[in-house]
Amino acid sequence: MIIDIGDLTLTKQGHTKQEKLFNAIRNKIVSGLWKSSAKLPSTRELATRLAIGRNTVVATYEQLVAEGYIKSQVGSGFYVAVNLPEQFYVGENIKPDQNGFPVNETMKRGFAPGVPDLEEFPVKRWSKLVHQHGQRRSYLGYSNIQGLSSLRNAIANYISSSRSVYCSPDQVIITHGAQQAISTALLATASYGGEVAFEDPGYTSVRSVIELFNMKNTPVKIDKDSGWNLTSLTDSEAKAVYVTPSNQYPLGMTMPVTQRLELVEWASGKNSFIIEDDYDSEFQFAHQPYPSLQGLAHEYGYSDNVIYIGSLSKIMFNSIRLGYMVVPSSLITKCCQIKQAMGGELATTYQLALTQFLTEGHLQRHIRKMRRLYQEKHQMIINSLNYHFGADIKVISQPAGLHVTIIWEKDIAESTWSEHAKNHMITLKPLSEYESYPTQRSWKGAILGFGNAELENIDENIADLARLFYRLDANSSASS
Ligand SMILES: Cc1ncc(COP(=O)(O)O)c(C=O)c1O
Repeated sequence: MIIDIGDLTLTKQGHTKQEKLFNAIRNKIVSGLWKSSAKLPSTRELATRLAIGRNTVVATYEQLVAEGYIKSQVGSGFYVAVNLPEQFYVGENIKPDQNGFPVNETMKRGFAPGVPDLEEFPVKRWSKLVHQHGQRRSYLGYSNIQGLSSLRNAIANYISSSRSVYCSPDQVIITHGAQQAISTALLATASYGGEVAFEDPGYTSVRSVIELFNMKNTPVKIDKDSGWNLTSLTDSEAKAVYVTPSNQYPLGMTMPVTQRLELVEWASGKNSFIIEDDYDSEFQFAHQPYPSLQGLAHEYGYSDNVIYIGSLSKIMFNSIRLGYMVVPSSLITKCCQIKQAMGGELATTYQLALTQFLTEGHLQRHIRKMRRLYQEKHQMIINSLNYHFGADIKVISQPAGLHVTIIWEKDIAESTWSEHAKNHMITLKPLSEYESYPTQRSWKGAILGFGNAELENIDENIADLARLFYRLDANSSASS
């Protein structure tokens, strides 16, 4: 397929024409408008249509190639190399199961980030609850925009006991996944076009929202060795800072208490907000999880500056599309108005089923079971990486969550290895995809999700990755 330039225009984001064009094309790709394998317009054509220099287009294409968004085919042109946002990083082999339903066979090969073990979820118990509550006629009409009060109660109890979040059920808003909570929090605090601070590298879907809402993105740089660098906040007028303090996404470190307090102090001093995304903190393998930042802020009297966000995607399954946010009283009405505007209420049947799943302790039991399984998978992936790569690959993420972050120093581009892995039906997410403002690094990195990988397949898949890695290494040594 050949891409029609269509409505492509330079974005406001970026200083130079090259940055603006880069962002415009990247937006088209990450939003799925320009599909994988589609052919980009030639540099000459694009330069003419946008009335910019051809050198600018060439340099932009080169940067997009370097970051793995597009690939160049000698003598043929440039093609989109990125598929869909990571939650859709699943395989393509659809075969029917014994009931005739299509199943995604290759999904289990790994290593898609952010996908929990879908095989282990108690679907029978869950579907029984959904079926049971789906028959309650009194719930077939419209309901509460904030979410059912029974569910808000159950969530408030769950997060106060498991994550030390301090809140009343009135502050809980049930959302369409954590994603809607994030968009709502950003809009409620910074408004369209406002300034927000965001982790760099950070969760790509947040960056998409920031770009979509035309917000100014002040980066909070994350260093693989020293963690969060909060200095950019000092002079910023950001109305909110988005952070993943329990398990930085994607580098996988925990924010120390001193920095949590620094953030709280900054937010209260600037009358700004901390958006705490606590997406997978249930899965800590080395120690007890740290309590939430929101809870800590409350101890110091500043929880009014924190919006806490949680998701059911990792502890249950992705397609449940339920998440929640705990908002200070001052923002409840605004957040509900935004939620109303962005789709209104959520399906009542699922909310009722989830309430019962929580209040009867099924969720907590499932989490305990999965924590043990993920710990085993984590150990397996660490052992396999050690065995197949030795010192050539280092794992930098803490033992937690559903992915490991690896780095290497050999001259193998992130996007090249990832592209080869994809041809072998293995997902290896290049670290560059998480960067808003790419910097020169002496090392390269990638993410391997192990949540939905089958324990027995992990070693074989890592062995495949190692074969590709050393083949690429041999090719690059031969050509240099
Ligand atoms: C850091 C982070 N936050 C939030 C989410 C999204 O959660 P949800 O599926 O509830 O929208 C993800 C999903 O992968 C994530 O990685």
